[in-house]
Amino acid sequence: MATRTREDVKRIYAEDAEGYDRVRLEDPRGQLVSNHDVRLFEQLFPNESGEMRVVEIGAGTGRFTLPALARNFHIIATDVNASMLERLSSKVAKMGWSERCSVQTEDIFNLSFDDASVDYIFCLHVIPRFATLEDQRAAIRELSRVLKPGGHLLFNYNNRRSMYGLLYKGYSTKPSEMKEILNEANLSVQTQRGKWLVSRRLINRLPLFMGRLIAVFDRCLSRFWPDCAWDVFVVAAKE
Ligand SMILES: C[S@@+](CC[C@H](N)C(=O)[O-])C[C@H]1O[C@@H](n2cnc3c(N)ncnc32)[C@H](O)[C@@H]1O
Repeated sequence: MATRTREDVKRIYAEDAEGYDRVRLEDPRGQLVSNHDVRLFEQLFPNESGEMRVVEIGAGTGRFTLPALARNFHIIATDVNASMLERLSSKVAKMGWSERCSVQTEDIFNLSFDDASVDYIFCLHVIPRFATLEDQRAAIRELSRVLKPGGHLLFNYNNRRSMYGLLYKGYSTKPSEMKEILNEANLSVQTQRGKWLVSRRLINRLPLFMGRLIAVFDRCLSRFWPDCAWDVFVVAAKE
């Protein structure tokens, strides 16, 4: 099986921003999974913005941008695909938050931000889309380059050393590999949360009430042994 390249990842999301939302935000099962992820995000994302410069990479149509804006942050929301950002912008405008959200296209592998110029970066469901360790390493190195010392990165990755990871045919990353990548990029793990069972693939196969029960169970597990969970949400600090 040919490995998915960076260009493939970009292209997959280039055209159908409306379809992206239909599957994840409008379909009841997609909504369940997205709400679950947003809760995890809200546990890890700061409550107070202070004077922080906050950037989102791979913002998509704003699944995590809107909850961040709801906390009164100023956000620079970026994505490599302008079509995703157009949809994000119209949602932000509808909420009356445009003044606190600037939108620009950015490629995670070649960001336009200066070295050490950003206080906080969040980047969710982007790193696991890259299908080689080298691409994941290059992406995290670039995120770290623009972070100030003492700044933070919130991201997630799919864990090969988990129950799903053992069955999954796509690319997933070992916690030891991710720790090495973070180490090389002068980032150290501060907090982690695990998503053990909730995945669109599983939830789509179940009656909705069972999906809801699984989500509750998963929330109870999220603080325990994240290194063994399938989808690991990480907050890392720049040294
Ligand atoms: C699975 S979506 C996640 C979007 C959003 N973070 C969310 O969770 O709904 C992956 C996003 O990464 C973006 N993307 C793909 N390649 C990228 C790149 N090289 N640089 C920045 N963003 C990229 C896609 O356009 C898409 O919006």
